[in-house]
Amino acid sequence: MKITDLAISFVGLIATLAFDDLSHNKDASQSHTAQGTGYGAENAVDGNKATCMRTKPIGPNALDRTVWWKVDLGGVYNIYSVSILFKNYDGYDSRQRGRFAGFSLFISNTEDRDSSSLCYKDGQELPPLNFSTTCTLFGRYVIFYNERLDGVAYPAEYVTNVYTELCEVTVYGCSKPGIYGKSCNLPCPTNCRYRTCHIENGSCFNCAAGYRGILCKTECPHGWYGVDCKQQCSGHCRDSISCNHVTGQCDGGCAAGWHDSFCKKECDDGAYGYGCVKHCSGYCLNDTPCNKETGHCDIGCAPGYINAFCSQKCNSGTFGNGCTGRCSGNCLNNDVCHHIDGACTGGCMNGYIGKLCSTSNCALRLSIVKLT
Ligand SMILES: *[C@@H]1O[C@H](CO)[C@@H](O)[C@H](O)[C@H]1NC(C)=O
Ligand SMILES: *[C@@H]1O[C@H](CO)[C@@H](O)[C@H](O)[C@H]1NC(C)=O
Repeated sequence: MKITDLAISFVGLIATLAFDDLSHNKDASQSHTAQGTGYGAENAVDGNKATCMRTKPIGPNALDRTVWWKVDLGGVYNIYSVSILFKNYDGYDSRQRGRFAGFSLFISNTEDRDSSSLCYKDGQELPPLNFSTTCTLFGRYVIFYNERLDGVAYPAEYVTNVYTELCEVTVYGCSKPGIYGKSCNLPCPTNCRYRTCHIENGSCFNCAAGYRGILCKTECPHGWYGVDCKQQCSGHCRDSISCNHVTGQCDGGCAAGWHDSFCKKECDDGAYGYGCVKHCSGYCLNDTPCNKETGHCDIGCAPGYINAFCSQKCNSGTFGNGCTGRCSGNCLNNDVCHHIDGACTGGCMNGYIGKLCSTSNCALRLSIVKLT
């Protein structure tokens, strides 16, 4: 049994040593440095186990209830493990372990702990002072966090008023971006998001926009695009092709009646067709806009116009709604009547009156004769 344990820790050691130290002398910061000198956050990444960072205490008797320390690795890396050497004082092992008990480690692409991934959370048992955990994640910031909140019942071994002293924090991983493997010599699959992948087996944590699958080799299905293929194409690309699986744009242009690069906008009223470059006739019934795809007046034409586009005036001799009106035939000079209202704009032939020249004026003349 002992031999097995030894063998395992030996293998673990080899694995750890094969990875690069990502945190050495990187930019470190902490929530509130303890009074005195030589307690700065940088002491935990200076490679010197004798110098330690130290923060003001937290707990019921202190001003603060939470504490954090973090290191900015300077870029997003694939991470294998995190080791922490906590401060020890001869003969105070259990007190020191009780101070660090309950801590958490987060890995994040941003400085914000809320948008981070939990790498490790200490539990009931007190942590060893030479702590180490594998943490096969990716990120730029490694954040140490601890708290002693009011009204929380901590395990009996936990110390409740706590100084935090980290002597060395070492983040192991691959120091070249987009690389994985025990020798840090294998490139992550091309379409992994942020070019990060599982440091041991190379599977992508997430896919770049437009791809899916463990190795992110599969393009989004027809009609979908973006991160996790969760965004839906407008459905209005030309010839019903799918939008670009990465950007969502319709690279080949829009179907008739639609515009903008995503083809999400209908043509403005009065325009229609591919690229919305054609103009409606303007003679649809009740001033309605024409069909944005076809240019047709779907509900019919204004009086005086015919054909599907309502672009043609009534045929000679007809007028009005649907061109069903017949001109009186009595306009002066054999003019045709007006295509909209049937009026003889140039006046009536002798013997006819009225706007349409459809009334014979004989009757009128007769009545005038009678009167005189
Ligand atoms: C960590 O500390 C324990 C107890 O002091 C010791 O047995 C162990 O060998 C140490 N491990 C490492 C990796 O230093
Ligand atoms: C790589 O390891 C992770 C974590 O154990 C696992 O979720 C994933 O499926 C593995 N990928 C492959 C390709 O085995």
